[in-house]
Amino acid sequence: MSASNHLLELNRLEAQEKLDAQKSHTERNRLGQFATPPPLASDILAFIKNNIPEKFKIRFMDPAFGTGAFYSALLNIFPKSRIESASGIEIDPHYGYRAEELWTQSPLNLRLEDFFASRLPSKNKPNLIVCNPPYVRHHHLSIKQKEKLQRLVGAAAMTRLNGLAGLYCYFLLYAHAWLEEDGYACWLVPSEFMDVNYGTEVKEYLLSKVTLLRVHRFDAINVQFDDALVSSAILWFKKSAPPLNHVVEFSFGGTLTKPEIIQSIPAIQLGKAAKWSRTALREGKDEENTSIRLGDLFEIKRGLATGANDFFILPSDEAHRLKLPEKFLIPILPSPRYLKQEVIEGDAKGNPLIDQKLLLLSCNLPESELKRLHPKLWDYYQIGLDRKINETYICSHRSPWYSQEFRSPAPFLCTYMGRHGAGKENPFRFILNYSKAVAANVYLLLYPKPSLGWYIKESPDSLKKIWEALGRISAGSLVAEGRVYGGGLHKLEPKELANASADSLLQSIPRLSSYVDSQEYDLFSNAASTVGEVRNKKKRAKRLRRQNSGATSKTK
Ligand SMILES: C[S@@+](CC[C@H](N)C(=O)[O-])C[C@H]1O[C@@H](n2cnc3c(N)ncnc32)[C@H](O)[C@@H]1O
Repeated sequence: MSASNHLLELNRLEAQEKLDAQKSHTERNRLGQFATPPPLASDILAFIKNNIPEKFKIRFMDPAFGTGAFYSALLNIFPKSRIESASGIEIDPHYGYRAEELWTQSPLNLRLEDFFASRLPSKNKPNLIVCNPPYVRHHHLSIKQKEKLQRLVGAAAMTRLNGLAGLYCYFLLYAHAWLEEDGYACWLVPSEFMDVNYGTEVKEYLLSKVTLLRVHRFDAINVQFDDALVSSAILWFKKSAPPLNHVVEFSFGGTLTKPEIIQSIPAIQLGKAAKWSRTALREGKDEENTSIRLGDLFEIKRGLATGANDFFILPSDEAHRLKLPEKFLIPILPSPRYLKQEVIEGDAKGNPLIDQKLLLLSCNLPESELKRLHPKLWDYYQIGLDRKINETYICSHRSPWYSQEFRSPAPFLCTYMGRHGAGKENPFRFILNYSKAVAANVYLLLYPKPSLGWYIKESPDSLKKIWEALGRISAGSLVAEGRVYGGGLHKLEPKELANASADSLLQSIPRLSSYVDSQEYDLFSNAASTVGEVRNKKKRAKRLRRQNSGATSKTK
């Protein structure tokens, strides 16, 4: 790095720090203002240098410029002779004015405006776009904004983005119109789009409109941004139609230039994969090899969303001190953090034998009746009104506002989110619940489907065995079904847990296979809706029959 570039970068970093400090975290969130750390920007530009032809003359562009982390790295890594032009766009003058001052001596064309309102160049379009777009979630975009962005993206990339897509998806697809044919683009984005519905159009774009060359996923444990908790990925592609039988490099962990794992995956296979992150992790099981899933055995639901846990869930002493009517109080489990046991025993009345005894206040009586019949409870709800709990999102959509959902106690629960910890390979825990306690939405509830219910009725000790077998589902396969956030926080939605393999249950309890066999009706024909699903279910039924006959003969 030349001495003058080094000085410029030091000035830029100092400016970045000061400018960030002048804004609150909420303000920076609104425009996704989380700058790229310099080592990461350098690594990205070093990677680009190794992956573009030597004679390629660069027309650089960063449409979310900030103070210019990538531009600075570009100047450090490429000789001046390789850079034909450079441009940037920045919406916020707070960063933009300072960036103009910083780069005044360099041949940078910086526009202080909205990327989506900026005039598209008619010639000499950029041929290298490097960008860390703002990570603004969809609920911060108004309906009007979304409509405008969808129109622009529709014209630029011939696709309509899902309404749940974050601003970074619009940036990525809209930039298609800006990039020169045969030009390259490198995007530092949240990896979430790889695994969720709103990412479908983004993945289709990457597989059909451009040649996707490399996808690198950072290990979520190593958050890339000190100040924003997102798990990040880098996309590297060329604007040209993908060749036949194209193969994409997928890497994971380490850095872009020195990843821990690198795999080549046929684009056709990516086109079929629902979740790309699984592909890069080499975790989880082969879908085809799984004969039975948890969703075949259990109805899986999220626990109760109360609307305000600290108001509707009370320590049992407190509920009794307030003389709240017994019939509206239901035992509820504390959050997993405070639940030491994994087997919850119940007393003679079914109350859970645990240290932290909590009760859910669940009353659906209309206000007029409530006031007349239960004045103490009425008084308590007045406190809720003072605290404006009736105006929270969930309560304001319920009538009366204090009413609660109904969930019966589930015999099995799984924690909804968790991290790998010291000596804790699996971020998720299964709980066996013999009590009548219900659970809030920090848990997933597993209710046995009818045929599994039969097995449980006939085999009194089966609950424990089933719970033990649930605990044997590999951490990898649960993690692969769910999603991961920055800092290594894993989450599982009911549908994702339902998709996890239940083979461990069949292996641990061979007798279960005969019950599963007899439930072929509800497993394989009842819920099938599309022709594809029917076909898949039939295939799975066949495999299961084969496996069951193997399992039965082995146990004889
Ligand atoms: C994640 S930061 C990246 C900044 C810088 N390129 C870097 O890598 O450090 C995103 C930047 O985009 C800017 N931005 C947000 N919305 C924009 C828009 N519609 N047009 C142009 N810039 C925008 C933000 O103000 C912020 O500076």
